[in-house]
Parts: sequence; C-alpha cells; structure tokens
Amino acid sequence: MGKRSAPRYPDDGGGGGGGGGICCVLCWCCCFLFLIVAALAGAAAYALFLYKPKAPSYSVSNMSVSQFDFNSNDLTLYTKLVATVRAENPNEMIGIIYGDGSRTVVSYRGTPLCSGHLPTFYQGFKNVTVMEISMEGRHGFGSGLQSALEESEKEGNVPLDVFVSVPVSLRFGSFDVREVRVNVHCALVVDSISPKKKPTIKSATYQGNVEF
Ligand SMILES: *[C@@H]1O[C@H](CO)[C@@H](O)[C@H](O)[C@H]1NC(C)=O
Ligand SMILES: *[C@@H]1O[C@H](CO)[C@@H](O)[C@H](O)[C@H]1NC(C)=O
Repeated sequence: MGKRSAPRYPDDGGGGGGGGGICCVLCWCCCFLFLIVAALAGAAAYALFLYKPKAPSYSVSNMSVSQFDFNSNDLTLYTKLVATVRAENPNEMIGIIYGDGSRTVVSYRGTPLCSGHLPTFYQGFKNVTVMEISMEGRHGFGSGLQSALEESEKEGNVPLDVFVSVPVSLRFGSFDVREVRVNVHCALVVDSISPKKKPTIKSATYQGNVEF
C-alpha cells in the first residue's frame, strides 16, 4: 500500500479573514474527517481487491497410532498418536501467522482420546506446510464405549472427530491484522485405531469457522 503521503492542508492559523472563524473551522473539520473516512474505506477496498484473500485449507493426510492401552482397573484409555496435517495457504500476497495457544483434540463418539497443539510459525504465500502433530492423553473409557469401538473396528469404520482450534493473524505486506481464532472440525473415518496396524483414512469431511 505504501508510501503515498497523506494529503496536507494549510494550517488554520494562517487564514486571513479573521472574522467568521468557527463555522469555517467546523466545516474544515467535517471535510477533513470525511476525507479520512473515505480514504480508509478506499484503502480497505483496494487492499481486498489487491490481496484477494482466500481461506486457507487443512487436511489430515496420515495418522499413526503408537499406543492405545486400555486400563481395566480404572477404565481409562491411554492414547498416543501422530496425525499428519497439511495446511495450505493459497494466497499470493497474504501470509498467515499461527500463534500460541492452539489446541488439537481427537475424540471418539464425543469422548476425547488425546490432545496436542500446532507449532507456532509463519506461513508464507502459496505455501504448503505438512505438520506432524503428536497427541496423547488418558481419558475415561467405559465399557459401553469399548463395545462400541469393538463394533466399529469389526466393521472397519471407526469414526473419529479431529478438532483444531488455532489463533491466526494475517500479514498483508508489512502489517498484521489482529488475531482471530480459526476452528476446524474434521470428521474422519479410519478402518481401525490400534498400534498393530497403521490406520487407513477412509474418508474425511471438513467444516470450519472463524471467531472474531
Ligand atoms: C504416512 O506415514 C508413513 C509413516 O508413518 C509414511 O510411510 C507414509 O508415506 C505416509 N503417507 C502419506 C500419504 O503421507
Ligand atoms: C513453507 O513454509 C514453511 C514454514 O515457514 C517452510 O519451512 C517451508 O520451507 C515452506 N515451503 C516452501 C515450498 O516454501
């Protein structure tokens, strides 16, 4: 956007007439305000036109489970897995800053299995970054869930929900737009979830929203 210098107006002090001052000053103020507002609106429209923002996209391309241990004494499940997430910034002139305080959760039928977070990094224009996200957790897993999971495994259709919530800022040229929180929900179906066999991703559907 750049180095265009702001419009300049002669100082009020210099005005020769001396007489009907206040009205004229108000008038100038109004004009000046109007010009500023118009200039800002113009700049915003110009930026949108110039930068053509496009939404980034995310997909889970791979998953491997290293631990999936059920503890029958306290009915908890310890899960440790790595999900490979591919994040694409399709914009030609907008960078994306992934901030601190992100969270990723994998859950099965509303029960969390494990959680982790995204790295903080700056993603440049037209960039595809593939991230390995490690997640682990121990959560209560009752016998009802266990038998449901056994059933899912038998059918070879294990529905998992992957939630990603990450604060991001957009970088236009040299200035950053304030942070917003991007939430993505991925409904994933894998054939099984166990360390014995690498899960195959059978389908994935994505939904996202932005919290301002
Ligand atoms: C998934 O990860 C495994 C190793 O864990 C690797 O061998 C395989 O190529 C990966 N697949 C994709 C599609 O990235
Ligand atoms: C994409 O961005 C990441 C993170 O900044 C960087 O490590 C990677 O080299 C970039 N890839 C390309 C193709 O520029």
